[in-house]
Amino acid sequence: MGALSWKVMVAKSIAQRFIRKLLAWYARAARDLPWRKTRDPYRVAVSEFMLQQTQVARVLEFYPRFLKRFPTLEKLARARPKAVREAWDGLGYYARASNLHALARQVARRHDGTLPATPQELEKLPGVGPYTAGAIASFSFEKAVPAVDTNVARVIRRVFLGQRVTGNVQRVWRLASMLVPKDGKRAWRFNQALMELGALICVARKPRCGECPVQPHCKTGRRLVKTLRRSASWRLFERRPRNQRNNPQ
Ligand code: ADE
Repeated sequence: MGALSWKVMVAKSIAQRFIRKLLAWYARAARDLPWRKTRDPYRVAVSEFMLQQTQVARVLEFYPRFLKRFPTLEKLARARPKAVREAWDGLGYYARASNLHALARQVARRHDGTLPATPQELEKLPGVGPYTAGAIASFSFEKAVPAVDTNVARVIRRVFLGQRVTGNVQRVWRLASMLVPKDGKRAWRFNQALMELGALICVARKPRCGECPVQPHCKTGRRLVKTLRRSASWRLFERRPRNQRNNPQ
């Protein structure tokens, strides 16, 4: 076997282990979020528009209220701009509300009220960029496509590219496309899990590598542990007999 095939095989096996650990962690640790209980494309789209620039905790307050006011895409399409604005009031960045409204109108008119299922078609709609298109395709239609937002990009960079936190965007999307499982249901969980890891563990400023389920498979996490091992405090910790490790001196 040639050197290149070995390299590919090793990369694949690392990726598979990473995915397995990530999915097992997600099954244990995922938050119970309302938009993860639905595959309704309209409901998924509303959540993704709200989450574009707003924290999960805040979206949790507004999401049910908005859906109560506009339970279907048709209802939103027929609404007056003022009513949409009122339902969005408090979330800020109103351009998202008017884009969502325009999207509903366009889908009602040109797509018989059904959101398209592919990222390419979704990206033609108002307010839908590559991330939102991937998220709607994966989270409602269970398409095996990547969805790379800021959090996911950070996780992929740290795990596979090491400390180079500013890697080129295209490279990160390519990596995400190679990693995303071929099975749509597994891809759904994989995309949600990457997002969850970015939100709960692999956070921007102080990543919690000590609690990370994929730390042994992560370039950045491994380097961190190596540095810690070299430090005096780690050696002291290591030298203590096993039965005393958790007792403070
Ligand atoms: N941010 C964007 N989409 C999300 C999702 N599905 N779950 C949690 N945070 C998100």
